[in-house]
Amino acid sequence: MSQIVLGIESSCDETAAAVLAADGRILSELVLSQIADHAPWGGVVPEIAARAHLAALAEMVRAALREAGVGYADLDAIAATAGPGLIGGLLVGTGFAKGAAIAAGRPYIAINHLEAHALTARLPGLSAAQPQFPYLLLLLSGGHSQCVVVEGVGRYRKLGTTLDDAVGEAFDKTAKLLGLPYPGGPALEALAREGDASAYPLPRPLLHRAGCDFSFSGLKTAVAQLVAAQGSAALPRLLAASIAASFQAAVTDILADRLANAFALRPDVSAVIIAGGVAANTAIRTRLDSLCAAQGKTLIAPPLRLCTDNAVMVAWAGVERLRAGLTDPLTAPCKPRWPLEELAREGVR
Ligand code: KG4
Ligand code: ZN
Repeated sequence: MSQIVLGIESSCDETAAAVLAADGRILSELVLSQIADHAPWGGVVPEIAARAHLAALAEMVRAALREAGVGYADLDAIAATAGPGLIGGLLVGTGFAKGAAIAAGRPYIAINHLEAHALTARLPGLSAAQPQFPYLLLLLSGGHSQCVVVEGVGRYRKLGTTLDDAVGEAFDKTAKLLGLPYPGGPALEALAREGDASAYPLPRPLLHRAGCDFSFSGLKTAVAQLVAAQGSAALPRLLAASIAASFQAAVTDILADRLANAFALRPDVSAVIIAGGVAANTAIRTRLDSLCAAQGKTLIAPPLRLCTDNAVMVAWAGVERLRAGLTDPLTAPCKPRWPLEELAREGVR
């Protein structure tokens, strides 16, 4: 009988709970997005997020257990995201998980959200063959842009990160300049399909420079200047579409360039997992896929629901940590800031 882990995610604007068997069977998975709660403010409001997690979590866990057909006594561990993220949401999720761990008499596991994205690649059934360490994580979300070598459970080496905006943030800010609603990434991608990607030669910060760091603020500023130069009236649709397409082409070039550098730095990686909302972007996926194919690497692009914030990845990281004997005391804190490299230094917390 496979071990069973309950996972809880509440670090940003998704409340999620999942029950996972250690052999990779997803017994239940529930996600509640708070996008509608935050949309009027054009971004995530931490206090609103924390209250929404608090309102939703207990009933969601009950439903997840019910759907999975298990009770607390059937669980082998309870895993929750303990950072990085917004402190209010982290306290709600880890507080609940610790209470559940006490009730079930089972270990609590504090999960690093970035590690959960990284280990998703190893979820059985996700790709034709489970990737072997080391492989790369390219995390492209609204809050993070990172290129990380995954060397083992708890062992990560960051190759690069953003020097300014996260890539999803750049999509959202550019979309706002084009008059699109929050979150702008999907709307910008749809609009870009109608435009000419070569219409505007936008800057590609750091292109052809060594390393894997990202920078997007110069690109966003260039779009702001371009929009301002059109005057105060609403942008004609075709023009907005060509700006969107040109922006997307610039981001795609930047990401491909950084990934090529990562391969040069670490030729030993066999696969790349992409994660985060921006990994949903077809133009980006297609380009990274052909780059990987040309270099003999496998691109693992999980289905969108496992790419964006979810609790299956938290439960899976819990399974991996449980197997490695890495459980946590109930005194383990939440860490709003928690770089992946710290995990190696912590060992058994
Ligand atoms: O990982 P995620 O769902 O959550 C957080 O970071 O919290 O990422 C959300 C980000 C947003 O910035 C959104 O605009 C962007 O991912 N995004 C996209 C697309 N879908 C979502 N960006 C570009 N193209 C898309 N299709
Ligand atoms: Zn995430």
